[in-house]
Amino acid sequence: MSSHLKNLVVTGGLGFIGSNFIRYILKTRRDIRVTNVDNESVGSNPLSLQDVIPGRHYRFVKGDLSDYQFTRRVLKSASIVVNFAAQTHVDRSIANAEPFFESNTRTVFNLVRAVRDMKVESVVHVSTDEVYGSIDRGSFDENSPLNPSSPYSATKAAADLIVHAWNATYKLGVVTLRCTNNFGPFQYPEKFIPKTIIRALYGREIPLYGGGRQIRDWIFVGDFCSAIDLAIDKGDPGEVYNVSAGNELSNRDVAEGLLKLLTNPAARLVDVEDRPGHDYRYSLSSEKARLKLGWKPAYKFDDALAETVKWYREHAYWWKHVATARVLSGTPWKEHW
Ligand SMILES: NC(=O)c1ccc[n+]([C@@H]2O[C@H](COP(=O)([O-])OP(=O)(O)OC[C@H]3O[C@@H](n4cnc5c(N)ncnc54)[C@H](O)[C@@H]3O)[C@@H](O)[C@H]2O)c1
Repeated sequence: MSSHLKNLVVTGGLGFIGSNFIRYILKTRRDIRVTNVDNESVGSNPLSLQDVIPGRHYRFVKGDLSDYQFTRRVLKSASIVVNFAAQTHVDRSIANAEPFFESNTRTVFNLVRAVRDMKVESVVHVSTDEVYGSIDRGSFDENSPLNPSSPYSATKAAADLIVHAWNATYKLGVVTLRCTNNFGPFQYPEKFIPKTIIRALYGREIPLYGGGRQIRDWIFVGDFCSAIDLAIDKGDPGEVYNVSAGNELSNRDVAEGLLKLLTNPAARLVDVEDRPGHDYRYSLSSEKARLKLGWKPAYKFDDALAETVKWYREHAYWWKHVATARVLSGTPWKEHW
């Protein structure tokens, strides 16, 4: 490897945010070489980076980070690690929680140990607003207690506590980012926004859990990528930063906005049975990230949503083969995964 390039290991880089981040960082930094480590499991799509040619600035390593020896090997020459690898679909975690423990908790247990052994300089661990659980009014800050409701968010919260303990005990200095719901290109079709777009393109009914009253704070994936980039350089070792863009909307509002952009009269909203343990509202204060990292979102929600719809219209080759009946199910938590 070229000695003057920093080796940035990105885990889960064939997934939604990871692949967007790799594109982002290869455009903005020329002093790094990205090693993308992914086990090509749920959420991954090799087509997402098919035009990124392996070479001086990029390579792909297939492997499972729940295997400690593999994790050690892959971190051997790492200067920076950004950890995205996880199982991420709440509905699947309700149907079958075990892969979530392996990919969300065991991987982080392995990562912190390997980071310590390999003396990696800088690590950003990607977490989620879901670790705080639901909040009816106001917003969570970084000192709010963790109160996860789903197997997904519980395994992510466990990972955050492992990071916290390794920072406290071994002075590891891992920076944690807790972000709200992302949307944008390359998101797997089972997630709310792509699923709504694809079902509308097919002229099918759009399922809404419990009438779609739940509130999420949406962020365009490009804005989260810029926050991660800043956290690598400016994040204080061991600190947690919430990342949110201030686009709180009910699921019904988002679905209605999408249907306006898609204009398929056959696609209409229908209520379906809510999933168990469904959090009503997520809300984060991102004051700390804005103040300390100098981050702020650059995209307007409506423009980014229109851009996302256009992308899915024009990239059916990317999603068609993975958008199976089960993936597009109205009640995926009832499916067998
Ligand atoms: N998507 C969101 O809205 C959102 C919001 C906040 C935080 N996050 C967090 O961001 C990260 C990325 O989310 P995403 O939506 O891009 O996920 P994703 O499901 O699209 O991608 C996850 C990737 O991780 C890989 N992976 C899973 N287990 C692995 C293992 N054991 N070893 C190696 N690779 C493994 C998968 O193959 C996949 O490519 C996750 O940690 C998630 O919890 C996501």
